Amino acid sequence: MKLSFAKPSLLLACALTLGVAHAAPKQITLPPDAVLLTANDHPGYAKAQQACATCHSAEYMLYQPPTAARPYWDAMVKRMKTVFKAPIDDADMPLIVDYLVKTYGNEQAK
Ligand code: HEC
Repeated sequence: MKLSFAKPSLLLACALTLGVAHAAPKQITLPPDAVLLTANDHPGYAKAQQACATCHSAEYMLYQPPTAARPYWDAMVKRMKTVFKAPIDDADMPLIVDYLVKTYGNEQAK
């Protein structure tokens, strides 16, 4: 009884697998490399690399308004720590915020 059910389903599985393998595209396009934090000689850059590069790409920074002021970035860094448990040392926060506002915010060198 069991055997008579097993055989047709096995054949079906084989047929499906072959069909899928045959229809598979020959080329795959990989997504572009992740955006890295903008390098500069600010001492907060290295700290930000440690604190901000583990969960997501720096693309998120680029999507922030360039008019964003210091309190905005301060709140952002704090939110990453409290909400998402980002491993950020409290002592490093001012330096990271300074790097962010000068690299992506309204204190960028023109
Ligand atoms: C523990 C993981 C983690 C770390 C570390 C982390 N983030 Fe995030 N971040 C997230 C998640 C998750 C989101 C997506 C939030 C959402 O979709 O609302 C996010 C979103 C963002 C965004 C997009 C805007 C927003 O409000 O969602 C920015 C900007 C950002 N992070 C900046 C930072 C900065 C700056 C640091 C370093 C201080 C940092 N992140 C470190 C997890 C992290």
